[in-house]
Amino acid sequence: MASLIVTGGVPLSGTARVSGAKNAALPILAASLLARSPILLYDCPQLRDVENMLSILAALGVKNERSGGTLLLDASCADAYVMPQGLSKALRSSIFMLGPLIARFGNAVCTFPGGCEIGHRPIDLHLRGLSMLGVRIKEEHGLILCDGSDLSGADIHLDYPSVGATENIMMAAVAAKGDTVIRNAAREPEIEDLAVFLRKLGCGIAGEGTSTVYIRGGMEKTDPRAVISHRVMSDRIVAGTLLCAAAMTGGEIALENARATHVASALAKLREAGCSVDTGEERIYLRGPKRLREIKLIETLPYPGFPTDLQAQFFALCTMAEGTSIIVENVFENRFKHGPELLRMGASYTQKDRTVILRGVPRLMGARVAARDLRGGAALTLAGLAAEGETVIENAELIDRGYESLENTFSALGARIRRENGDTKEEP
Ligand code: UD1
Repeated sequence: MASLIVTGGVPLSGTARVSGAKNAALPILAASLLARSPILLYDCPQLRDVENMLSILAALGVKNERSGGTLLLDASCADAYVMPQGLSKALRSSIFMLGPLIARFGNAVCTFPGGCEIGHRPIDLHLRGLSMLGVRIKEEHGLILCDGSDLSGADIHLDYPSVGATENIMMAAVAAKGDTVIRNAAREPEIEDLAVFLRKLGCGIAGEGTSTVYIRGGMEKTDPRAVISHRVMSDRIVAGTLLCAAAMTGGEIALENARATHVASALAKLREAGCSVDTGEERIYLRGPKRLREIKLIETLPYPGFPTDLQAQFFALCTMAEGTSIIVENVFENRFKHGPELLRMGASYTQKDRTVILRGVPRLMGARVAARDLRGGAALTLAGLAAEGETVIENAELIDRGYESLENTFSALGARIRRENGDTKEEP
């Protein structure tokens, strides 16, 4: 297992470009199965989850070639609808493949998906939505068998605005007979990016980014020789993570390829903590204060509320903010695994169910800690950057699922951070 080794206390300074968004790239890759023409995808992040998705697509017959952040995909020869079991288990987002597989082949077979251990993350909303589109679903020996040969449009009301379920239903509904409406749909910016991409493939979608999404049944024919190109939106969670790091180290950074409106809820909390924030087109600038102030209340909610994927990073920030901060995690249960690790670094908090009350300490102390999930691992890295002395973060592979070499990004901003891979040492 790899570790990140951080010597804290250096204020971050400089400019960083934010990568393409993992959570936009994954459903877009799944949707590429619907294209008969080649696709050029720019700013596709080089992450383990993305590589796993590409392997799943390859097993279904989708060709891909990568050159840096650019991917060339060709799904014209895709010929299988049974997903490889091991890979589906390794990646929760493999569930996104159900919609496109049903749309393309009328059938899909997959296993129950795996992914980050944050709560038990059911898929009932995905399956209920698909069955409302006329998909007959059977579960046999841990496999989900979907027969979508009579796919028909429907009026679907989601009990909860699930991001994945909204995306999955959108991708299946484009091939249905008749139109579909998704009510109480998720409004995340990644859904808008998927809709933009689907329109390029000849799908009729409207209302994305609001809680009612309309999908026209039946795709328009596109010229099979014309290359479809798309740039993946920038990663708002990576942006939020880098801004937190600058705030916690009393640093000063500028982010390029960052959309302020996508992180508005996080920027409001950073200002409340005493940071000075300026925004421009595709650019965010932040200067951290000498000492952070408490954040009265952070409540994670579906977009445009505060994102659950930034909860851990703000938890780390609040451990060193003057006064008492409160965090309520509403989206996922069991998403405070970074808490006990931060206690080892001198943090002080109490937890009751989904609520944490943090009493800020003047400084964190370096310690040996372990990442338990992707965002929690990033939060521990931020704590290490701000702490006195050396912090070792074990299980760094978990962090690699969502960040393209976080250590390189931080060392370019002046941090003292390096990676150690098992026995062999590697300089950043
Ligand atoms: C997506 C993001 C993830 C983020 C989450 C919430 C991707 C690849 N991942 O995950 O990083 O943390 O949105 O912003 O885009 N739920 C059900 N039944 C379902 C589906 C979800 O009960 O069928 C529940 C979940 O357990 C969770 C809540 O709904 O409590 C939100 O989940 P959802 O919005 O579906 O998140 P994901 O799409 O899995």
